[in-house]
Amino acid sequence: MVKKLHYLTTFPEIIEAYFKYSIPGRAVNSGLVDFNIVNLRDFTTDKHRTTDDTPYGGGPGMVMKISPILSAIDALRLPQNSATILLTPKGSLLQQDLLKELSEKDQLVFLCGHYEGMDERIDLYAHYAVSIGDYVIGGGEIASLVMSDGIIRLLKNVLGNESSAEQDSFSHGVLDYPQYTKPRIYDELEVPEVLCSGHHKNIMRYRRKESLKWTLLLRPDLLKKIKLSQEDIKMLKEIKIEIQTFIMDNIDE
Ligand code: ADE
Repeated sequence: MVKKLHYLTTFPEIIEAYFKYSIPGRAVNSGLVDFNIVNLRDFTTDKHRTTDDTPYGGGPGMVMKISPILSAIDALRLPQNSATILLTPKGSLLQQDLLKELSEKDQLVFLCGHYEGMDERIDLYAHYAVSIGDYVIGGGEIASLVMSDGIIRLLKNVLGNESSAEQDSFSHGVLDYPQYTKPRIYDELEVPEVLCSGHHKNIMRYRRKESLKWTLLLRPDLLKKIKLSQEDIKMLKEIKIEIQTFIMDNIDE
């Protein structure tokens, strides 16, 4: 399980703020995880403490220099079971299974780039290059925190209820079932009857069927990746009939 998260950045305050609150704040205070913010400026050698420079070949923007990053990684003296992660829109798309894999390392190092990116040669020193989505944000700090947030909640004893992370959307490869709380009726919107029935088996079946239904409707790609049980297939058939009936009932003659 991850014991320490390192962040190599030129904007330490962004990371600091994250660890002050909520689940990550509590996880750190109770010693379940530790963090270390490394200001890359501390690993520069020039008077102006420059971490970036103009790109070879010309063009707009600045590129982050490789030497402060590598010196900072060296200084960490990482144990064997560690991983360095480069945040970049050119990385492979972040998925839940990578968060799980990383949560099992001892230490993680997030390389947070800014400006136009980092000197390409950093690729050789990172174990993973990760993108948090097909869009470009200002820098790697927020992206590294998205990853950290996903990882921290997987660590043992971090969530109040041990099973919460296991119930998450994606942890079983399907979307989460819908949840409701009191009141039972709000503005004529009623909580599904079965959830108030107290009948555990029916509730379990209802929830699994809802998960399958919403995954089929919103993320059919996910269904192709998981192993469906006989009961799942039966429920999917029921869902398809229900959807067809719904469509037919709503077509104007
Ligand atoms: N830096 C800028 N955009 C990013 C993205 N989509 N993922 C990770 N790092 C980034």
